[in-house]
Parts: sequence; structure tokens; C-alpha cells
Amino acid sequence: GLRKKEVNVLCLGLDNSGKTTIINQLKPANAQAQEIVPTIGFNIEKFKSSSLSFTVFDMSGQSRYRNLWEHYYKESHAIIFVIDSGDKLRMVVAKEELDTLLNHEDICCKKIPVLFFANKMDLKDAMSSVKVSQMLSLEKIQDKPWHICASNAIKGEGLQEGLDWLQGNTP
Ligand code: GTP
Ligand code: MG
Repeated sequence: GLRKKEVNVLCLGLDNSGKTTIINQLKPANAQAQEIVPTIGFNIEKFKSSSLSFTVFDMSGQSRYRNLWEHYYKESHAIIFVIDSGDKLRMVVAKEELDTLLNHEDICCKKIPVLFFANKMDLKDAMSSVKVSQMLSLEKIQDKPWHICASNAIKGEGLQEGLDWLQGNTP
């Protein structure tokens, strides 16, 4: 049969935002980890959608590892950026990291799709995806396709919508 197109996805966002939990949910049930621990450095994960074969670089969001991110910009075809919607205090830090990413010479000139997950929407004081996109000034991103989904990675809610969008917008 036809081979699925291979795409490299970079999964970024602050520590504790839920990146690894999201990636774990997207893997086939028999490949899912039972317990998620904070990522050290990064992990490489693979999963498939109906038409694409994804290789995901699940990066650590801890500040001491964030300097690793840029080494993977060149070879990435898509970015998943995860935000903890309940972490109001660090929303400005998330915005700083996002702005640094979008202004990087290996990213700023590319029409690379960026999928945002406003994660942890189950938390009582979670900000809505509209509020998160305002806090991050996503409307200013005009040279790349982007999309934001509210998600609950523990229940797996909102993830398929995001994956569908990514599949339709990855060149
Ligand atoms: P680093 O690897 O340190 O960068 O963190 P990460 O972004 O990979 O976060 P991780 O997936 O390890 O999740 C951090 C914590 O948030 C874990 O305790 C998860 O169970 C929890 N978590 C992830 N997604 C959700 C969610 O949607 N809702 C709630 N309530 N908790 C979540
Ligand atoms: Mg992780």
C-alpha cells in the first residue's frame, strides 16, 4: 500500500504544561506509558494519523533544557506548542518563549504550521482558549498557519481536533 508521508513535529512549551501527556495520548493504546515523568532533555516518539507518520521530538520545558529547542528547528515540519491554561503566573514566560521561537532565524522565514493546545482546561480556574490566545498575542502571527485547541490531556479531550488540523495544514 501507499506509505504515509513522514513529518517531524517539535513539541514545545513550559515544563508541566502537559506535552508528554498529550504525546502519550496520541500513541496507540498498547504503546502508551502508564506513568508520565518530567522529561529530561527530550524524547523521540512516533505515531500515525490517517495520512501521516509523525516523529515527535518531545522536548523538556524546564528552563535549563530550553536551549536544546533551537537545535531541532531546521528539521521540523510542524510545531505543537502546549500551554498550561491554569498557570496564569507563567503565561508571560510562555509568551517570551513563544516570541523567541517565532523570531528565531530558522523559524521566522518558514511557513511552518503551529498548533497550540490550551491544555488543562479541566482546571477550575483555567483560562479559555480565547483568553490564552489573547495573552500570547496569537493574532499577530500572520505568516504561518496556526490553530488553538482547548484540551484535557488526561482525558484525551481536544487532541483529535488538533491532530486533524495538523494533518490538514502540514505541507
Ligand atoms: P516537562 O517534560 O517537564 O517539560 O513537562 P510536560 O509539559 O511534558 O508535562 P507532563 O506531560 O509531564 O505533565 C505535567 C503534569 O500535568 C502531570 O502531572 C500531568 O498529569 C498533568 N497534566 C497534563 N495534562 C493535564 C490536563 O489536561 N489536566 C490536568 N489537570 N493535568 C494535566
Ligand atoms: Mg515532558
